[in-house]
Amino acid sequence: MNVKGKTILITGANRGIGQALMDEALNRGAKKVYAGTRVALNHPDERVISLNLDVTNIEQIREAADKIVKLDVLINNAGVAFYDDLSDSSILEKHLAVNLYGIQNVTNAFLPTLKDSEGAIVNILSILALSPLPPIASYCISKAAAFSMTQSLRAFLKSQSVSVHAVLTGPVDTEMSRGLEIPKASPEYAAQNIFDGVENKQEDIFPDPMSASMEQSWNSSGAKAMERQNAMAVQA
Ligand SMILES: NC(=O)c1ccc[n+]([C@@H]2O[C@H](COP(=O)([O-])OP(=O)(O)OC[C@H]3O[C@@H](n4cnc5c(N)ncnc54)[C@H](OP(=O)(O)O)[C@@H]3O)[C@@H](O)[C@H]2O)c1
Repeated sequence: MNVKGKTILITGANRGIGQALMDEALNRGAKKVYAGTRVALNHPDERVISLNLDVTNIEQIREAADKIVKLDVLINNAGVAFYDDLSDSSILEKHLAVNLYGIQNVTNAFLPTLKDSEGAIVNILSILALSPLPPIASYCISKAAAFSMTQSLRAFLKSQSVSVHAVLTGPVDTEMSRGLEIPKASPEYAAQNIFDGVENKQEDIFPDPMSASMEQSWNSSGAKAMERQNAMAVQA
């Protein structure tokens, strides 16, 4: 997979990591970047096409899929995070609506064209999918669920040559992490490592210094070995 000349859709492209991914895709010579946003986006580069896309809105997802006839890379980046203590299930539902069902519905809508192009699906998840941070418990549950979905989808789509990448992001300096007083990577740094990971066919991408410190142990873990073993159940 080489980003140069490719058509890419990024959800939540108006700020933070999504915006950095859009700029990095342009830097790497993408042919077209569809910027999925909830508010119209004006970008000076004519390769950027603004797309009205709330990932919880089935009608908007359908319209977007009707409009885009060819797609090489789908980046499911849109996400929400709220503090909670698991006492109110509506908070969990809000996370799942965007961070899990949003990814599932957008992915399913674009699967036919991604199969045609033998393209890539890139899900921007969190290192907290592997180990929760209790003050944002529902966020962690949604990212863990989305990681599991990513792993199964990877197995389902292997025979059709669609690669499915999990980005296990650590702290990145965006609106979402504003209250956290810890070292954070810049969105630009994370975006470069995410595209490097996609281009190098890495299944699981650890795009910042904090998450990168877990990459080796994850890749040699029993859990990763079991994922590979279980994936064979699909091909059998
Ligand atoms: N920053 C971190 O430390 C960190 C760490 C791990 C993982 N991540 C993940 O990285 C991704 C990007 O987050 P970020 O750090 O860039 O945060 P951010 O600056 O808060 O950006 C979140 C993006 O998601 C969009 N969004 C939220 N709900 C949406 C919906 N229903 N439909 C479409 N777009 C929606 C937002 O659009 P609006 O402007 O319209 O709200 C915004 O563009 C998220 O999936 C997040 O979980 C971030």
